[in-house]
Amino acid sequence: MSVFEAFIRGIPKAELHLHIEGSLEPEQMFEFSRRNKVDIPFRSVEEVRGAYAFSNLQDFLDIYYQGAAVLHTEEDFRDLALAYFARLKADGGVHAEIFFDPETHTNRGLPFSIAVDGLLAGMKEAETRYGITSKLIMCFLRHLDEASSFRTLQAAEPWLHRIAGVGLDSSEKGHPPSKFARVFQAARELGLKICAHAGEEGPPDYVHEALDILHVDRIDHGNRALEDDALTRRLAKEGMTLTVCPLSNLKLCVVMDLKDHPMKRMLNLGLKATCSSDDPAYFGGYVGDNYIRTAEAVGLTREDIVTLAKNSFTGSFLDAASKAKHDRCDRRPRRRELTNEGAGGPTALKSRTNFIGAASSGETVVAIRPTGTSAGAPRSGGPRSQMKQAKPSHW
Ligand code: ADE
Ligand code: ZN
Repeated sequence: MSVFEAFIRGIPKAELHLHIEGSLEPEQMFEFSRRNKVDIPFRSVEEVRGAYAFSNLQDFLDIYYQGAAVLHTEEDFRDLALAYFARLKADGGVHAEIFFDPETHTNRGLPFSIAVDGLLAGMKEAETRYGITSKLIMCFLRHLDEASSFRTLQAAEPWLHRIAGVGLDSSEKGHPPSKFARVFQAARELGLKICAHAGEEGPPDYVHEALDILHVDRIDHGNRALEDDALTRRLAKEGMTLTVCPLSNLKLCVVMDLKDHPMKRMLNLGLKATCSSDDPAYFGGYVGDNYIRTAEAVGLTREDIVTLAKNSFTGSFLDAASKAKHDRCDRRPRRRELTNEGAGGPTALKSRTNFIGAASSGETVVAIRPTGTSAGAPRSGGPRSQMKQAKPSHW
């Protein structure tokens, strides 16, 4: 692993834009289809992956809803969540706020409880197993009508103390936030946090509506806000968090080349951007890959990475004390050594980067520096000699 990659994967981060149904890997699709005796129109994992070529959001959604139909039991949802959290852990994730789409499941006959209880069980187990905290956000499908979203809010009533917020997803064009003004008002009155996908494919006006009609706490995506200078200035001034998903944008042709992705521009404009994976099983990368490939493509610096990681906590729905705890975490890179050097001479080193704030007590940590700086010269057989060159030339 390069210094660059170790730094990015090691930095403590939260993921704020993740559809749990979009973490269904093809292998799991086969496993759940066998388990539940559900037919899927694919014969192999390769065939499934081959079908993931999308020209726009709708192309993706058609296959995504088909994939979600293999999920039938609480155990499926629990397993799905746990598999996601294991991958998040490997990417330095310590907190996640995950979306689920109840109507995708209730509209094919599953009781509301199946998805929500299964996911909550997975989230609880992830905290025990991996120390990852998480929150659940229930999304309304915007291609459905307002009555369906109200039925969903009503069905969620017994679980509302365990649901942090509501979101708005699915086909954006032709389904403006204003279509759901009343259900979001009801959700707000229930004390739920509010987010909405806006400006992914839809125009800047949808971002205006999300702000002024839904009164969002967060905008999911928000890319097209950049087409409107006054809106961009407003988002920056209000410190509105944008949950940006670069590999999703590439795969759904929101950008045609990752080099054209606006992440760097967003940060330079003072927007509170974060970096997330959206539907990682479909878009070719989890949160760490999103950071790494975007950093390579648009030239994010270490400071940019630290800003994205910090924004992921300040933009989260964690309480103030938890945010402060994450904010105190020192994000200077530290490399964990094995501690038996005195007994057995220099030993093999763990390849992952650690951070002061994330290190458990008693562990030895040594600083790493960007390749090419003079301090911290490697000892023979030591950590730096096992590191490849940092990838982007500016690192
Ligand atoms: N549902 C799952 N992923 C989505 C996305 N990227 N946009 C809108 N709805 C979604
Ligand atoms: Zn999304």
